[in-house]
Amino acid sequence: MRKVRGPLPIVPERIFMTSTTLVITSSPVGKHSVSTLLLDDLLERRSKTHPHERVVVRDLAAMGGSLPHVDGTFADAIFITPDQRTVEQQQGLTLSDELVNELIAATTVVIASPMYNRTVPSSLKAWIDHVVRPGLTFTYDEKGRKGLLSGKKAILLCATGGVYSKGDGVAEDFLVPYLRCILEFMGVKDVSVYRAEGLAIDYEGAVRSAKELLAVEN
Ligand SMILES: Cc1cc2nc3c(=O)[nH]c(=O)nc-3n(C[C@H](O)[C@H](O)[C@H](O)COP(=O)(O)O)c2cc1C
Repeated sequence: MRKVRGPLPIVPERIFMTSTTLVITSSPVGKHSVSTLLLDDLLERRSKTHPHERVVVRDLAAMGGSLPHVDGTFADAIFITPDQRTVEQQQGLTLSDELVNELIAATTVVIASPMYNRTVPSSLKAWIDHVVRPGLTFTYDEKGRKGLLSGKKAILLCATGGVYSKGDGVAEDFLVPYLRCILEFMGVKDVSVYRAEGLAIDYEGAVRSAKELLAVEN
């Protein structure tokens, strides 16, 4: 008797979840946050253009600043191989490993950031310190340093009181060039930047033009 095979098991995640977007958000002011406003806009649109996308959100501010700064254990542990690490060192890297795995699993990374004193908020800096890991997100070979996260796209949503994309402000912008530099260091070269800038000068106009520019982003 011929065996009739039943239908193949359906594994929804494998069939439909074709991509993952990792969202890193860092403003502590909740619904008053302009970077979060832009993020909500983007995610709303992407829910229609990428209906089967998985979205993972790391709200660094909601963590109440609980993302720890790196310490001595961490700094020693990241430069040795896993088999050389003590139990204490392995434990010291647990959160970092989790954050790195989230980043590696993402096809798109969205970073929503206010400018604080010309650069990223310290919560976002702490996240960066946890994910820029030798052997995991970058390495060195005979040709020099090499990012290991190629093939990913990044979208930066930045909110600033002043104007930094042109004029005198360009020299004082340690936010967008810094984020670009860190992403490029890890191999992420496809980076789109959207700025709501000059919020302290013309809030409504700055939000409106940022939203208009962002409307073309998929
Ligand atoms: C602690 C702090 C530092 C800030 N530093 C700057 C700055 O250096 N340059 C600037 O243009 N705006 C600065 N701002 C203004 C914020 O960038 C602006 O309010 C922005 O909207 C914050 O993003 P958010 O609305 O997503 O929280 C600062 C705000 C705070 C609270």
